[in-house]
Amino acid sequence: MRIVQCKMNHLKNPLGFQVGKPVFSYLVQDSKGSAQTEARIKISRCEDMKETCFDTGFAEDIDSVAYEANVELYPRQRYYWTVTVRTDAGEEATSDVNWFETGKMYEAWKGKWITCEDYFGQHPVFWKHFTVEKAIRRARLYVCGLGLYEAFFNGKKIGDEFLTPYCNDYEKWLQYQTFDVTEQMKAGGILEILLGNGWYKGRFGFINRVNNKSFCINTWKVIAELIITYEDGCEEIVGTDEAWNVYYSRIKCSSIYDGEIWDFTLPMRKEGSVKLCEETLPPLMERLSVPVRIQEELKPKEMMKTASGDIILDIGQNIAGIFRVKVHEPKGRKIRLQFGEILQNGEFYRDNLRSAKAEFEFTSDGKAHILQPHFTYYGYRYVKVEGISQVEPQNFTACVLYSDIPKTGTLQTGNRLVNRLIKNAEWGQKGNFIDVPTDCPQRDERMGWTGDAQVFSKTACFLRDSFAFYKKYLFDIWQEQQKTEGLVPNVIPSWGDRETSSAWGDAACIIPWNLYLFYGDKSILRQQYSSMKAWVDYIERCDGDKKLWRKKFHLGDWLALDHHGEGDEAMGGTDTGFIASVYYANSANILSKAAETLGYRDDAKYYKKLSEHLFLEIKSDYYTDDGNCKCDTQTALLLTLHYGLSKEHEKIKKRLLEKFKVNQYKLQTGFVGTPLLCNQLCEEKMEELAFALLLNEEYPGWLYEVKMGATTIWERWNSVLPDGTISSTGMNSLNHYAYGSIVEWIYQYVAGIRPVEKCPGFRMVRIEPIVSWELQSVKAECKTPAGTYRSSWEILDEYHLRLSFFVPFGGMAEVVLPSVQEEIWKEKKEGEHWKLLPGDYTIEYRTRDNLRMLNCGIVTQSEAIEY
Ligand code: BGC
Repeated sequence: MRIVQCKMNHLKNPLGFQVGKPVFSYLVQDSKGSAQTEARIKISRCEDMKETCFDTGFAEDIDSVAYEANVELYPRQRYYWTVTVRTDAGEEATSDVNWFETGKMYEAWKGKWITCEDYFGQHPVFWKHFTVEKAIRRARLYVCGLGLYEAFFNGKKIGDEFLTPYCNDYEKWLQYQTFDVTEQMKAGGILEILLGNGWYKGRFGFINRVNNKSFCINTWKVIAELIITYEDGCEEIVGTDEAWNVYYSRIKCSSIYDGEIWDFTLPMRKEGSVKLCEETLPPLMERLSVPVRIQEELKPKEMMKTASGDIILDIGQNIAGIFRVKVHEPKGRKIRLQFGEILQNGEFYRDNLRSAKAEFEFTSDGKAHILQPHFTYYGYRYVKVEGISQVEPQNFTACVLYSDIPKTGTLQTGNRLVNRLIKNAEWGQKGNFIDVPTDCPQRDERMGWTGDAQVFSKTACFLRDSFAFYKKYLFDIWQEQQKTEGLVPNVIPSWGDRETSSAWGDAACIIPWNLYLFYGDKSILRQQYSSMKAWVDYIERCDGDKKLWRKKFHLGDWLALDHHGEGDEAMGGTDTGFIASVYYANSANILSKAAETLGYRDDAKYYKKLSEHLFLEIKSDYYTDDGNCKCDTQTALLLTLHYGLSKEHEKIKKRLLEKFKVNQYKLQTGFVGTPLLCNQLCEEKMEELAFALLLNEEYPGWLYEVKMGATTIWERWNSVLPDGTISSTGMNSLNHYAYGSIVEWIYQYVAGIRPVEKCPGFRMVRIEPIVSWELQSVKAECKTPAGTYRSSWEILDEYHLRLSFFVPFGGMAEVVLPSVQEEIWKEKKEGEHWKLLPGDYTIEYRTRDNLRMLNCGIVTQSEAIEY
């Protein structure tokens, strides 16, 4: 038996993160038993664990999914911890020694914010020379540089992170990072900190991208503290101050949207002078952002020369990230790389990036160089290359950047196009999980749109461990709300924009609840409770007696295809007041569940009542006496079914089917309806339609874009028209993860693995696969906090099916078998389900139905229904 995956706050051996009360989690593997009987967690300041500062003793209530330790922690301490587990098979095993190290916490900074004289142009490098006279035991660098920074020791980059100190609500808090520089300091030398513009100082956000101004004050600044502990126990703190030095580098320009400009014909160093910063800055806090790194590297698949003579590299995959290229050109030669997502008429194209230049420019000093940008990223598949005499594709590497979000989900079907769709959604997550969950990674936007984030959050949690990533985003939601009396801005960080909308702002309630459901860790609800409550209270205040919430502007079923009449065609056809009311009632309900979970009884009661009252109002205002929904759209009917809003449920189902029938079984849904669509159809046993929508290869549908060669998820159902032309340039990204939420349905309903609210963190799952002739087989694996679950099925022939399940140690599954004959089912089931304890299961049986007829992409049942 082994104890693995030991994490603190969902992070493996984290250095310098915000901790609060530490939450421990771990997994048991290779056990002969099926469950833990008791466990013991010990924390020590010494690696040998001889003296402990916290010890639970053996206890039965230690939950391996999330155990919050009530322990007081001190600054700059490395804590070691182990967990020992006993099982129902009489085994006992102890984990390896794990650690986490606190940051400066409440300690005052000796280092001061320093700045330089120049505000624009050549980017500064602040530096100091260090000599060491005594033996060093350990050294840490605590550092924050604004807009962005990279630190170097003797010319070598410290750590492997990009875009530090990351993107958050800079008005409320600043994140600093901690680096272990013990080895570097032993040798002594020069510490340099290079600064760039980034989100803080560059043009960014809606308001600022237009007037070309930055959101924050336009100065470069840095604060750092190097704390050295010598072998003799003495400690030395060297902080940034006026005695540091600065020179200006040959990077002339950097921008998240526009890229970078380097001019190596400039002198290597232009000395400047250092001053103390005069402005008062928000508090520095330990990081919450998980590291952004180069997670993958790709080589060009093809190099081409277009009819107009451009040289273009095709990476073969739309990605977000940077690049590395070897160059050696004569002095004064200008190299220019431009990045785009798609070709048009065989030529390089970038108009859908709007005002984002997305370039890299380099003027050569005549020497050989390896170029790699520092302070930008691009969303791209194609690179237009200018100024390189002999372009060799192998000299170019696409470096895929995204946050550390370990892969947890693997899903494969017997259908090639569906597999590509799943892959596209996976790339959608990678491309839009660069510190903030963004709408898109390429145009002059790349912001944390709350609506997009909530829509994709379940899929994100199936695909990758997204807990720590979202935790920081949610923290920022709350920071913003403290400036707006609870209003949740549409984008987080907001960059000063105070607009809000239902379904967008509701991310404040939906995402924490989804995290609780997937990871079983209550601490996220505790962290976010004030935010969730502030949002619902904000709506309640706006709404008042006059139901004003539903009367204000909302984005509604954004980008749905049923828009009619005047106005912005991006607005869908479903009444936005109806959607706003439903989301409001739902958020109040989530809040009451969170209050219940945290033991806040009065709140639980109050918000439950509020939610019930709101749903009653919706029922009376939006439904006719005979149960019809006054908003007669696909999305409104789906919401009706999902929330049980009509007294005539069956009638609404029929109406929905009819609506699809008249629309040739094609969807019209946007941001609100699409994530609900196939899930709800399956809940209503309308799976035939759900599969028809999935498998439809024509516009509008998921496989249309796959067939058109998409390697990511598009923003619009028709981002690219059948003839290959891009449909519009105003708002048309080819890497927008929102509609990738279909993957959540494939995990939950096709592979059938569904989290269960009463046992969060996958302590128990419901497995109820739905078989489709067109897919032939499905294989899913979910690495959950409670262990790895597997579910797969395979059609053997028209009447034979094989299914396999794996339930991990400590887990449990309630299975419902598809198309099973009553005799077999009777044998297996206890109550409604076949209950599976940990172990491997395979079952093969003769099916009730002819499988060839099952969910083959064609809807037949509608004929049988009378309207
Ligand atoms: C973004 C969306 C966002 C929408 C709402 C767009 O520009 O890219 O994904 O949710 O605006 O207005």
